[in-house]
Amino acid sequence: MNKINGKWRQLLHLEPPRGWLNDPNGLCWFKGNYHVFFQYAPDDINGGVKKSWGHYQSPDFINWEFTGTVLAPDIPEDRSGAYSGSAIIANGVMQLFYTGNVKEVGDYDYITSGRGANVIRVSSKDGRSFSEKRVLLRNSDYPEYCSCHVRDPKLWEENGKYYMILGARTLDSEGCVLIYQSDDLDKWRFVKKLSVPDFGYMWECPDMFDVGGKRLLSVSPQGLEHTETANQNLFSSGYFPMDGDKLGDFEEWDHGFDFYAPQTFCAPDGRRILIGWLGMCGDAYTNPTAQLGWQHCLTIPRELTVSKDGAVLQNPFSELSRLRSAPVAVSDGECKIVHLPFELCGKVNGSFEITLDNALALTYDGKTFRLKFTSDSVGYGRTVRNCKIEKCGDIRIIADTSSLEIYLDGGRKVLSTRFYPENKSVNLCSHGIFLKGWRLKGMEVNILGE
Ligand code: FRU
Repeated sequence: MNKINGKWRQLLHLEPPRGWLNDPNGLCWFKGNYHVFFQYAPDDINGGVKKSWGHYQSPDFINWEFTGTVLAPDIPEDRSGAYSGSAIIANGVMQLFYTGNVKEVGDYDYITSGRGANVIRVSSKDGRSFSEKRVLLRNSDYPEYCSCHVRDPKLWEENGKYYMILGARTLDSEGCVLIYQSDDLDKWRFVKKLSVPDFGYMWECPDMFDVGGKRLLSVSPQGLEHTETANQNLFSSGYFPMDGDKLGDFEEWDHGFDFYAPQTFCAPDGRRILIGWLGMCGDAYTNPTAQLGWQHCLTIPRELTVSKDGAVLQNPFSELSRLRSAPVAVSDGECKIVHLPFELCGKVNGSFEITLDNALALTYDGKTFRLKFTSDSVGYGRTVRNCKIEKCGDIRIIADTSSLEIYLDGGRKVLSTRFYPENKSVNLCSHGIFLKGWRLKGMEVNILGE
């Protein structure tokens, strides 16, 4: 069966055929395929708590198969949800580690009592069927200063040892990560906690990796202070450059409305790829696809590199160029109907303004890039997001049927948002910039499972 059609169905982004999607999970390359698992609630359009893992696979990021729900909560230790986790390939086998969420019924605050968070391991020879679940860590195994919120194991191998990082909330409501070490992936020894004073009450979905000679700790903190240009969403997501155990200044991954809980992995050619949830929960805006039976999607895969001056850059996966079809150009001062999806690039020279359907304005004044919905007809409650960027050299816009990912200055800053135009094309007007690019073909998506 081919991809289920419907208004606002994305053509470049992975979506659930029905129901709810959130975090990407278990990203890996295994036996000739990329595997992209995700938090999935096919029967609950609002997510609820009882999540499963859905599964997509692809040999090339272009041709995808959705094989359905592959990991569901079915043991006492994950009875309220198979929450987020990651994959590691060891001895030729895919090993998945995830959080078994347990919510007791009763009068609990679910912070210091009433919640269980178990690290569970399963293995797979094909990414579709899994071994028996083994519970490796329970709340009693975490340091005594932890609240019940400990989750989202991410694994890696380094110098012949395995490491696992978990996101946590302490009893003093400090966000932190916990690092464990193992020789065999079964017995885990607590090594250390990392945190920053006064930086949110909970850190979710941690990741630690090297890119371009830099080590980064990526986390999705909850409870940061919101300002006009920083941490503008309800929950944030970014990384600390690391110097030994010292955490440098936090940089947000994305400055748009819809981005959270990214995870990275290494492609077989060595590229460090990041995929995030192109969504947000609990904020004041909505998604009209919910009325049509599904909600949310993942970002396109982004390649991470480091510039000569040490900045972390994000850029769309290189294979995207295979989807380019007819060329498109919009001159300075011109308005044009452009079919979705498309990719448009332009060299920035001072300030500019790009408008879509007279409802969404992308402006730059030489200091701040602004994404502003000027009419609610396409924004569904989204208003304005600002991103400080001095000396912006260029802009690259990847527009899908109902989302935009905007890469500024070679990928130094990124803004992602959902937008819901009435038609499969937009009226694009450009002032102060010449945009050139392509219409894009859609990915091939086969839905094989539920
Ligand atoms: C982040 C998160 C994770 C958790 C999962 C549950 O969006 O809250 O911490 O494992 O979603 O779906």
